[in-house]
Amino acid sequence: MPDPLDAAIAKRDALLDDTTNALRLVDGAGDGFPGMFLETYAGRWLLSTTGSAIPHGVSQSLRDRNGSCYWKRLDQHQKESPTKLCGDDVLEPFLILENGIQYEISFQSGYSQGIFLDQRVNRRSLRQQARPGQRVLNAFAYTGAFSVSAAMAGAETTTLDLSQPFLDWAKRNFTHNNLDPSAHHFCKGDTFHWLRRFAKQGRQFDIIILDPPTFSRDEKGKVFRVENDFGELAALAAAVLAPGGTLLCCTNFRRMSPWEFERQISSALPRPMKARHAAMPEDFTDEPYLKSLWFDA
Ligand SMILES: C[S@@+](CC[C@H](N)C(=O)[O-])C[C@H]1O[C@@H](n2cnc3c(N)ncnc32)[C@H](O)[C@@H]1O
Repeated sequence: MPDPLDAAIAKRDALLDDTTNALRLVDGAGDGFPGMFLETYAGRWLLSTTGSAIPHGVSQSLRDRNGSCYWKRLDQHQKESPTKLCGDDVLEPFLILENGIQYEISFQSGYSQGIFLDQRVNRRSLRQQARPGQRVLNAFAYTGAFSVSAAMAGAETTTLDLSQPFLDWAKRNFTHNNLDPSAHHFCKGDTFHWLRRFAKQGRQFDIIILDPPTFSRDEKGKVFRVENDFGELAALAAAVLAPGGTLLCCTNFRRMSPWEFERQISSALPRPMKARHAAMPEDFTDEPYLKSLWFDA
């Protein structure tokens, strides 16, 4: 009887190649391990568990592989950096490769490691859709992974986030791919604020990416909740979308179906836009929580 961990990993063999070395190797119940997720980042592994214990047998199986493996508990309240489970220390940031693009990863800088692997397909689609010279706005940008994908296609990007350390990380991601950050724009602050400001300035974008957290509070204490506020967000974005432009709206809010998400946005848009639903990457075999909608004007 094959080790179930080996079986899950073997299923992803074809997805790892010269251009991509970061993937989800075990996706919870989708691979027979409810509440347990394993990802590889260029051969360094990250185990995440919803519970406070590692499932029986998994810890030893990971140790037997002789590689570096870190572990974090998925806890929305504690949000701690991963800790080492076995193998060599991973103390410095390092690079992974996804569809030929390099991204900087860190196991030391907090709860998130620098990239959300569930957006791999959307990043590839963005690179395929963006044209040289097009203006792409990446709001809620985190470390700018979408921005780099669009810039690789020759787009002129604007990367917007509340956090200066994340914007600095985004600039490094540009540099890791021989892209000059000074040829692109970086804005620190609240997306709602900036969208209104862009509208006043008459600035327009050909593609806008809206992938906010489910809940957030800006510097002034203003709360954003996907279930209440995505419609307003999409309407503000539509106001700065160039004719013929495209809006990518994503959420991992689980208590909303893709159709409810589409309805919420469509009903808030000032003019009808055609929606395309995108599926999650193949390595995400558990419940498809990420809803991704491409709206074409
Ligand atoms: C879930 S992450 C976004 C992931 C990102 N779209 C990606 O694919 O890598 C959420 C990001 O939104 C930022 N953020 C939260 N509230 C914000 C706001 N009101 N305006 C701008 N950025 C915000 C956070 O700092 C964080 O970097």
